[in-house]
Amino acid sequence: METTSFIRMILMLSFVNISVYITANPTFSNQTDQIALFAFKDSITEDPLGALSSWNTSVNLCQWHGVKCGRRHQRMVELDLRYQRLAGSISHFIGNLSFLRSIYLQENQFRGHIPPQISHLSRLQNLNLSYNTLQGEIPSNLSLCLDLRVIHLGKNGLVGKIPAAFGSLSKLTSLYVFSNNLHGTIPPFLGNLSLLEIISLRQNNLEGTLPESIGHLTNLLYFGIGQNKISGTVPPSLYNISALENFFLISNQLTGSLPSDIGIMLPNLRHISVGGNQFTGRFPASFSNASRMRSLDISTSGFFGPVPVDLGRRMNDLKRLDLAFNNLGTGVAGDLNFVDSLTNCTELQVLGLSGNKFGGVLPNSITNLSTQLRFLYAGGNQFVGNIPAGMSNLANLLQLGLEGNRLSGSIPFNIGMLQNLQILSLHGNRLSGSIPESIGNLTQIFKLYLFDNHLTGCLPQSLENLKGLQILYLSENNFGCSVPKTIGLFSSLITIVLAHNSFNGSLPLELGALNNLEELDISNNDLSGELPMTLGSCLKLEVLLLSSNSFNGSIPSSFASLKGLVELDLSHNNLSGTIPIDLQKLSFLQKLNLSFNNLEGEMPLKGGFTNTSVISIVGNGNLCGGVPALHLPACPILESKKQNNRLGFKVSIIIISVGLCLVILMFVVAIYWKRKPRKAPSETPLGEEFLRVGEEFLRVSYDELFRATDGFSSKNLLGVGGFSSVYKGILQQNENPIAVKVFNLEQMGASESFLTECEALRKIRHRNLLKIITACSSINFEGSDFKALVFEFMQNGSLESWLHTSENTTSKLNLTQRLNIAIDVISGLEYLHHHCKTPIVHCDLKPSNVLLDEEMIAHVGDFGLAKFLTIDISNPIEQHTNSIAIKGSIGYVAPGKKFIYVFKIMFYYIILELLG
Ligand SMILES: *[C@@H]1O[C@H](CO)[C@@H](O)[C@H](O)[C@H]1NC(C)=O
Ligand SMILES: *[C@@H]1O[C@H](CO)[C@@H](O)[C@H](O)[C@H]1NC(C)=O
Ligand SMILES: *[C@@H]1O[C@H](CO)[C@@H](O)[C@H](O)[C@H]1NC(C)=O
Ligand SMILES: *[C@@H]1O[C@H](CO)[C@@H](O)[C@H](O)[C@H]1NC(C)=O
Ligand SMILES: *[C@@H]1O[C@H](CO)[C@@H](O)[C@H](O)[C@H]1NC(C)=O
Ligand SMILES: *[C@@H]1O[C@H](CO)[C@@H](O)[C@H](O)[C@H]1NC(C)=O
Ligand SMILES: *[C@@H]1O[C@H](CO)[C@@H](O)[C@H](O)[C@H]1NC(C)=O
Repeated sequence: METTSFIRMILMLSFVNISVYITANPTFSNQTDQIALFAFKDSITEDPLGALSSWNTSVNLCQWHGVKCGRRHQRMVELDLRYQRLAGSISHFIGNLSFLRSIYLQENQFRGHIPPQISHLSRLQNLNLSYNTLQGEIPSNLSLCLDLRVIHLGKNGLVGKIPAAFGSLSKLTSLYVFSNNLHGTIPPFLGNLSLLEIISLRQNNLEGTLPESIGHLTNLLYFGIGQNKISGTVPPSLYNISALENFFLISNQLTGSLPSDIGIMLPNLRHISVGGNQFTGRFPASFSNASRMRSLDISTSGFFGPVPVDLGRRMNDLKRLDLAFNNLGTGVAGDLNFVDSLTNCTELQVLGLSGNKFGGVLPNSITNLSTQLRFLYAGGNQFVGNIPAGMSNLANLLQLGLEGNRLSGSIPFNIGMLQNLQILSLHGNRLSGSIPESIGNLTQIFKLYLFDNHLTGCLPQSLENLKGLQILYLSENNFGCSVPKTIGLFSSLITIVLAHNSFNGSLPLELGALNNLEELDISNNDLSGELPMTLGSCLKLEVLLLSSNSFNGSIPSSFASLKGLVELDLSHNNLSGTIPIDLQKLSFLQKLNLSFNNLEGEMPLKGGFTNTSVISIVGNGNLCGGVPALHLPACPILESKKQNNRLGFKVSIIIISVGLCLVILMFVVAIYWKRKPRKAPSETPLGEEFLRVGEEFLRVSYDELFRATDGFSSKNLLGVGGFSSVYKGILQQNENPIAVKVFNLEQMGASESFLTECEALRKIRHRNLLKIITACSSINFEGSDFKALVFEFMQNGSLESWLHTSENTTSKLNLTQRLNIAIDVISGLEYLHHHCKTPIVHCDLKPSNVLLDEEMIAHVGDFGLAKFLTIDISNPIEQHTNSIAIKGSIGYVAPGKKFIYVFKIMFYYIILELLG
């Protein structure tokens, strides 16, 4: 007996090997802790930051990283490995760490189930497993950990119900299970856990009604059930919890109204958000008593009646007031009297009044609102009168929406003082006069909506300063003059709508320089002359509407290079000549209107021309041939068709690919066609849509990125690459996480890498390519250059991390997922090679650059090493007009073959890896 245990001890002390420990004496000691921790380490498959590298026998375990021991008994009491980017499962040996009081494993990539053995930890008080990718149900016998105070399981993939057994956790103060896939109801027993301060259930599939018992929780500070399917009314008892500070019911199916004395019953309210339910009733006047309010959001409900005039008087901390999309106001003067009281809210950043029945003139007090104001939305009301000139006081405004009212007068000259403005919506009013020259001061603007007014005159010269403009809607006004040649300078423009005005003269050839243009609508003007053949260089065009003008000449054959074209309308002009045969190659075309012109000659027979619901050719004199359904006379002589093999580039890739990987690709392609129907035509333009609070993502400054990432802290570091580091962060205006790629500019080549990536990303937009949100080129707090790109954050990390895990658990990719990923990668690359003005070869394609979003859709990222092929084989026009397109690196020969070859190797590497 003595000897055996002695031998066991020797064994234990001399070997690191776990298998030896497993047979060890089950008496719980600090040895047990060590065994358990080695088992924990063993089930970690990735430890990129080396968090567990100090876990070895030559160091006392109490000194290991992330381990804290109790002073007296030298047993482990805390495991803190938050933000370490650890991947793997949580070993069930964790249940042997019997002195544990706190487990902090949040913000890693733990997968698999929560081990039910945690229930053996009778001393456990804090369990934080949030922001991982855990699956399965919440183990119900966690309820045996009677000392539990905080359970934080938010942002995982947990399913099932909130275990009823939790009713025994009488010491529980916080329960966070938000952003999972839980279903069932909100359990009534929660009302018995009298110490509960925080209940956060947002973003699940919970249904049923709110239990009355919640009202017994007198300590409740935070109650968040937003984005579920909760129905019924809010039990009145909830409004008796006077401690309540945060009350989030947003986006459920709740009915009823808010009690009129809510502001008196809940005097401590800081955040209330009830929008997106079916609440109705009068706006509770008592809100004005809630002096600690920071954010009040009742948007998208059925509230009506006046807003109390003293609403903001005591709310010195108010940052956000969102009353949008209700029936508030009476439509007459005085509706906005409450705005006077908001001038006391010196922190106000967001004011949403859109989509109500507010009337009268915009009060002057609106110009005295906090200079912190960033978003002011007042569209879709019944405002009359002028836009107050003093609006220029609101110097920090980022978005101003006054659309859909009955505002008249001219656009105030000093609108140019709003130099931070990014979106200006004044459409759907009765504004007259011309656009003030000072608009050129708004250099940050990227969306400008002035359509449907009575504006006149020419476009101001200064417009050319708005280099970042992406969307320009000036339709339905009385603008005269010609379209300025300088329009070619706006290389960021995506949409130009000038329809229903009196623009005259001819269209400038410079339009061809707009290589990001997707929609151009200049229909119903007085334009004349020939159609600019350079339009054929706007390769991203999807919608081109030039009808009801007086264009003459023939249809430029260059239009056939607009491969993405969905709608082309040239009707009601004086166009003559034949229809370019190559237009039949436009495979996405869904609407082609050539009617009421003087076109003649043979109709093409293929592509869109086979479908009479696509083409319209009435009112042309001498067309012949075409498909029989068109009932045109036969043509006299058939010309031999010129076969123009522009597809060489495409075909060569496909043939070689097929040769190497025939079966896979066929399978993949089959699924691809099945899965993704052809692209639908782009959505109809804005119409009666009003700007919604916080809808837009904005450009950011160094300062904002600094804050978003906690000062680029290492806990937010996602990875380090050749030229850059990537951080996770949250921008103030938006709760979705972002990934910030900061370029290390001291490194040779980093600046070029930034430029290349910017250029590449500027050109591309595809669902399978990592979406850039914004770029920041600025100066950091130390005065050095700072360059960063901001991307959507990809919840599921890189393909690499999925492929290279030694686990054989459910977290591995299954065959369908692998195929889908392969398809995604193929579609992304297909787009890069064939649908960009300048084909882009990625050059750094590898699993770690393929990122997976929440739905496991793959996005190809990291374009820092991308190459642009200068010779676009598929587009002969290119050679004359690519002054704007970036050139590939000098001295780089044989653009096609070498890179395609390299690319192919990389591509097969991924495919092979995917197929295991
Ligand atoms: C620890 O836990 C594991 C599994 O949960 C078990 O097999 C083992 O016997 C336990 N005891 C010790 C002392 O390691
Ligand atoms: C154990 O970890 C310590 C601290 O990280 C390290 O200095 C030491 O070299 C490691 N020893 C072994 C045997 O790995
Ligand atoms: C266990 O505790 C003893 C006494 O405090 C200590 O000497 C020993 O190194 C500890 N063992 C481990 C594995 O940390
Ligand atoms: C909790 O349940 C699991 C299985 O569901 C079991 O393995 C474990 O021992 C249970 N814990 C306790 C403390 O009973
Ligand atoms: C749990 O982790 C989340 C995410 O990091 C954090 O916000 C929260 O404060 C943590 N809670 C506790 C009690 O540790
Ligand atoms: C602003 O607040 C002060 C006291 O805090 C109050 O006397 C004053 O009436 C308020 N002004 C408005 C416009 O409500
Ligand atoms: C335009 O901007 C300048 C500063 O760049 C400012 O001084 C001027 O007042 C602005 N003009 C108008 C009309 O807002």
